[in-house]
Amino acid sequence: MKVTLANLLCFTVLASSGTSFPFERKTGVGKEKRVQYAAWDDVNVLAHGLLQLGQGLKEHVDKTKGQMRDISAKLKVFNGTVAELGKQTQRLQEDSEALKAKAQGLEDRESKMLNMSSELREKAEELLRERQRVNERMNKLEEKVDSMLQGESLETGSSNFSDARAIQWLLEAQNRRIDDLVERIKQQQEKLDKQNVRIRTLQSLIQVKNERLLLKRKEDDIHQNGSSEQRDSPNALASDCHEWFLRGETVSGLYTIQPSDSQPFEVYCEMTPEGGWTVIQRRQDGSVDFDQLWQMYQTGFGSLTGEFWLGLEKIYSVSKGGEHILKVQFSDWRDETQAIKYPFRLDGEENNYSLHILKSPADNLESALDTDAVGLPFSTRDKDNDQKNDLNCAKHLSGGWWFSNCGRSNLNGKYFMSPPPKQRHQRKQGVFWKTWRGRYYPLKTTVMMIAPAEIENKS
Ligand SMILES: *[C@@H]1O[C@H](CO)[C@@H](O)[C@H](O)[C@H]1NC(C)=O
Ligand SMILES: *[C@@H]1O[C@H](CO)[C@@H](O)[C@H](O)[C@H]1NC(C)=O
Ligand SMILES: *[C@@H]1O[C@H](CO)[C@@H](O)[C@H](O)[C@H]1NC(C)=O
Ligand SMILES: *[C@@H]1O[C@H](CO)[C@@H](O)[C@H](O)[C@H]1NC(C)=O
Ligand SMILES: *[C@@H]1O[C@H](CO)[C@@H](O)[C@H](O)[C@H]1NC(C)=O
Repeated sequence: MKVTLANLLCFTVLASSGTSFPFERKTGVGKEKRVQYAAWDDVNVLAHGLLQLGQGLKEHVDKTKGQMRDISAKLKVFNGTVAELGKQTQRLQEDSEALKAKAQGLEDRESKMLNMSSELREKAEELLRERQRVNERMNKLEEKVDSMLQGESLETGSSNFSDARAIQWLLEAQNRRIDDLVERIKQQQEKLDKQNVRIRTLQSLIQVKNERLLLKRKEDDIHQNGSSEQRDSPNALASDCHEWFLRGETVSGLYTIQPSDSQPFEVYCEMTPEGGWTVIQRRQDGSVDFDQLWQMYQTGFGSLTGEFWLGLEKIYSVSKGGEHILKVQFSDWRDETQAIKYPFRLDGEENNYSLHILKSPADNLESALDTDAVGLPFSTRDKDNDQKNDLNCAKHLSGGWWFSNCGRSNLNGKYFMSPPPKQRHQRKQGVFWKTWRGRYYPLKTTVMMIAPAEIENKS
């Protein structure tokens, strides 16, 4: 096209110069008529040349317009993609910043205990590098677009869209890359979650260790003061299973404890990851007769390694020092298990060992053992303190329990192997928890245990 244009211009210039010379010369000589004719021919030639030039220009402009329209449509599409890319990039940025913040938080909290944070930092840095790469690619793209725009205004003649195709290809590659990154961030998040769980576990272990240290310091103080407190020797007994736990005992079994204002006695301690529970009752095989009188329920009976009732006086002395939790576990004959926890307080003998559950039952399951503000006194066959006026629940059923009416729960009833007696009047004397397996289902095993309420504050 350029060549054609140049030729046209050249032609026009030649034509005009060829006509103007004779015109001037002949005018000077004075042969006016001949000169007029010659000039007219020249004008015709000139006009023809101009017409051709105009047509050439018009064609050229039309073609250029079409190309411009084409390119601007492509640019619009590209613009959209760039905007989308920008958005995704920002999201990536936010994600990686959140990740970085998390990694930072983890590092601060656990740098002494764990070295996972350095791994995390590496990951975050890798993400940042990835971001850098994306940015570089974006810059390159921008350059390309710029040069394309410039090329368009200068080089209007040539039609070359291979640049546009290259950009499209690059964008697709970029999109795939971003998807990949998002996926990796997701994986990173999952890893972080797992690590958080681990950190929480470790934190609770640290708390236990701190408690142990505190206790040790307290004991050292007492020892140094040489005071006449109960534990004035390094071999002093723990006051309950949780204290043994805090002193480093982690194996369940028999321990001797000495609650304040009490003689030492042996208990079975159930050691769990979060603390030590003092077991106060266990049923598992029917080897011990639980149909006992008040005095036996007061002092306790059975074998600590088998079935037993620890005794109301001992339970009272262990639990009187502060808020405690009662945990009740039972299993049925399909070996399914259930556990319930109650914050509670137990009165002493002067109030017939009344039980106070310190929160109203959260669900139906818990409601089988509930007390009002006054508390629920303990009853045996020979000491009827239940809330039924016309009936002695302990006599009507079996064993000793915090009976309200006679039908909600009794974990000290008669032990029945499977299958239980068919007669209802026999079966109702069994070990039952009405709101779990029902009034007439004799449970397979039950365990009751207590621990200071602080044991719950850890999880
Ligand atoms: C591209 O988008 C920007 C703003 O997002 C706008 O200013 C510009 O005019 C757009 N260009 C085209 C060719 O659509
Ligand atoms: C954590 O890792 C870094 C290097 O990855 C190492 O220099 C440092 O000693 C490690 N710290 C601990 C407590 O393991
Ligand atoms: C189009 O551009 C490419 C490189 O961008 C170049 O190799 C090619 O020769 C150009 N085609 C035309 C027709 O100008
Ligand atoms: C030990 O004695 C000091 C001062 O004599 C006192 O402040 C501290 O409370 C005592 N510690 C205990 C555990 O009695
Ligand atoms: C404790 O039980 C006895 C016998 O059942 C009863 O006489 C007494 O009033 C009870 N004491 C309290 C404080 O409820």
